[in-house]
Amino acid sequence: CKKPSTVTIQDFVFSGLRSAGNTSNLIKAAVTPAFVSSFPGLNGLGISAARLDLDLGGVVPLHTHPSANELLLVTQGSILSGFISSSNSVYYKTLSQGDIMVFPQ
Ligand SMILES: *[C@@H]1O[C@H](CO)[C@@H](O)[C@H](O)[C@H]1NC(C)=O
Repeated sequence: CKKPSTVTIQDFVFSGLRSAGNTSNLIKAAVTPAFVSSFPGLNGLGISAARLDLDLGGVVPLHTHPSANELLLVTQGSILSGFISSSNSVYYKTLSQGDIMVFPQ
């Protein structure tokens, strides 16, 4: 926690998601985080954000969400997105610009 007297508007604003991440890598994807370490206003709120850039053929490797839900909003293009539930059911769909999908914890 910051001392209240040192808090400024900059603690509640994060502009680091304006630019695309570098997708010149093996997975053709880049995740730019807006986590509490760079966005102090999130402290204690239980939320964070990230920007995901995917090149053509890009992929986010299979991963788990042990302690957080995720809400994905497609702002450009389309992606095939999905998850495997804890009971091994598979849910996936092609998402287009403006679609949102939730990934349970
Ligand atoms: C993106 O990453 C690649 C591979 O690391 C690097 O060669 C390239 O310079 C980077 N591009 C930018 C714009 O940072």
